[in-house]
Amino acid sequence: MELKYINYRDEAGIAWAQFNRPKKLNALNPDVFRDLEAVVAKCEEDDTIRVLILTGSEKAFVAGADIDVMAKGDIGVAHEITDQTMRVQGRLADLPKPTIAAVSGYALGGGCEVALCCDFRIAADNAVFGFPEINLGIIPGGGGTQRLPRLVGFTWTPELILLGELIKAEKAERIGLVNKVVPFDRLEVEAKALAEKLMQRPAVALRAAKTAMRKGMNASLHEGLQIEQGMFCMLFGTKDQKEGMAAFLEKRKPAFEGK
Ligand code: CAA
Repeated sequence: MELKYINYRDEAGIAWAQFNRPKKLNALNPDVFRDLEAVVAKCEEDDTIRVLILTGSEKAFVAGADIDVMAKGDIGVAHEITDQTMRVQGRLADLPKPTIAAVSGYALGGGCEVALCCDFRIAADNAVFGFPEINLGIIPGGGGTQRLPRLVGFTWTPELILLGELIKAEKAERIGLVNKVVPFDRLEVEAKALAEKLMQRPAVALRAAKTAMRKGMNASLHEGLQIEQGMFCMLFGTKDQKEGMAAFLEKRKPAFEGK
């Protein structure tokens, strides 16, 4: 996999993807998104990968979509940018494995939107979140107006998107935008510990839970409950369901195979 703006490695079941475009605070241009899509594709295909962790640098997770690109663009360019953004972010959000955004520094606009596509957000204590698009005469174009209210509700969404003010990690935790705030030097350790905890869970059931939660969020309650029922029943055909329940009854730890 040839990547220009993401440092990638996978070890012991964890895929680490670090945005690496330091001169532009990891701003998302089409090449960065191409790299991100390649990473997501790798995680989709490689059965040895159990969890994906996205990180950036100390100063910036991602400072947003690339304003240099947008400044030169017209309506057609805006369509191209958002088509690519929606496709890649959709694949990230739907990745049938847990994803963690380990955020240090700025996670703004499109950067915050990438973090919103992950299942967990762990923030370093220096993290700054926000949607400054309004100050550029635009609005979020990578799902911010849709994913943010689904996550934090309608009290905080207008405050972030209409005012365009930035918030610090502590407030992001208070409003439910991040799961946990940790000291910067603990960020990687904490993300890894969370990934390792997730890897102890049965992979097929994780996938089913993710499908039910993600698909259900976009459905009516009735449809969502049917999606959940389908996933629940499907799991009774897995080895892990037999193992999990046998282990409980035999008062031992389950040994899941992901089958
Ligand atoms: N796009 C392009 N370049 C960016 C960028 C972005 N989103 N964010 C930072 N940069 C560049 C700066 O232009 C600067 O480049 P030069 O050295 O060539 O001038 C470099 O990164 C370092 O940035 P600063 O000197 O500005 O660093 P700072 O510490 O003074 O400020 C910052 C940091 C507050 C994050 C500031 O860079 C900033 O406000 N960035 C823009 C944030 C923003 O508006 N993001 C939303 C983009 S729109 C979007 O994301 C739309 C969407 O949803 C699809």
